[in-house]
Amino acid sequence: MIKNEAVDYGIWGDLVTFFDLCYALPMSSKHLLITGGAGYIGSHQVRYLLARGVRVTVIDNLSQGARDFVPSEATFYKGDVSDSHLLEHIFAKDKIDGVIHFAGASCVAPSVTDPLHYYQNNVFGTMALLKVMKQCGIRHLVFSSSAAVYGDPLSIPIPEDHPLRPVSPYGWTKRMIEQILADCERAYGLKYVALRYFNAAGAIEDGTLGESHVPESHLIPLVLTAVRQRTDVSIYGDDYPTRDGTCVRDFVHVMDLADAHWMAFQYLVKGGESTAINLGSGKGYSVREIIQMVEKITGKIVLTRLEERRAGDVSELVADSSLARQKLHWSPRLGLEKILVSAWNWETQR
Ligand SMILES: NC(=O)c1ccc[n+]([C@@H]2O[C@H](COP(=O)([O-])OP(=O)(O)OC[C@H]3O[C@@H](n4cnc5c(N)ncnc54)[C@H](O)[C@@H]3O)[C@@H](O)[C@H]2O)c1
Repeated sequence: MIKNEAVDYGIWGDLVTFFDLCYALPMSSKHLLITGGAGYIGSHQVRYLLARGVRVTVIDNLSQGARDFVPSEATFYKGDVSDSHLLEHIFAKDKIDGVIHFAGASCVAPSVTDPLHYYQNNVFGTMALLKVMKQCGIRHLVFSSSAAVYGDPLSIPIPEDHPLRPVSPYGWTKRMIEQILADCERAYGLKYVALRYFNAAGAIEDGTLGESHVPESHLIPLVLTAVRQRTDVSIYGDDYPTRDGTCVRDFVHVMDLADAHWMAFQYLVKGGESTAINLGSGKGYSVREIIQMVEKITGKIVLTRLEERRAGDVSELVADSSLARQKLHWSPRLGLEKILVSAWNWETQR
């Protein structure tokens, strides 16, 4: 039932959960709104859900991503998540059961040089979305948070209860949104999972969809494009306190992420408590190790250029993913080799 008037979630929220548990239609009949569904991770999520028979509506302002990344089976709205009228229209037209919220500006370095854009787009955009969700009685949200909420970690691997000390405005936007979600849960009964992913990477196996940011700032596509175009790739700093001096990151296959989002939504529908959960493999690779692995997989030499450290980069980010196993029964199935092979497949076909 679509509810356009303001809803008090209290007791009603419990009844909805009971109803969902006892009588709800199968999960595949659910209808999800995917914000940022034309972007890298969002578009893979859309393909994943459509393949499972889930109905999908996408809203994306196309500041990144591409219209072509969204299959015609999904309903597409070009628009901004801060456009309350458009969101009200979408929620009134389709019976949306929940939202997976990917939309946001997503790079560390530009957030340092243009913080106001990041706070405006990410924090205000999410607040506008939450207001309309509350107004329309949509109570389940899966949110793209980030390992950037931890800042420079005190210990590795990083558990969810590690202090949150972001070092970039981007990380602060994610931390602020998590706080807003927690407050909305207390006040209105919103149920959410904030998924703190480490580094998303890889592509759909058939090479028809993959990573694409403009300008690209993520390591794996940068290295692969450099190999294909026979140019060099920048290494930002080799004096970090890591095993070879370059930054260490934990990479998760984008289709494993899609799996985790779907599991997180089901967890909420079944009455799971709101929470923040790390999504990572638990294994870190340095920039130089990634480059060596790319050379092995492509059979080509990677040309490199050493540059100064980038503002906002921390030395090492590796997830403790035990909570994801415990609460969502999720663990990544595709390791670094599968990530690089699929990403190379996309790089050579696009
Ligand atoms: N890529 C990663 O490794 C990574 C890691 C941690 C967290 N995240 C988070 O995951 C989410 C998706 O990341 P991605 O790599 O797919 O980025 P992306 O830039 O490819 O996708 C984001 C999409 O959101 C859209 N968008 C941005 N602001 C919007 C707005 N106000 N209204 C409507 N649409 C808007 C963009 O056009 C884009 O299509 C982001 O929130 C990002 O912060 C990504």
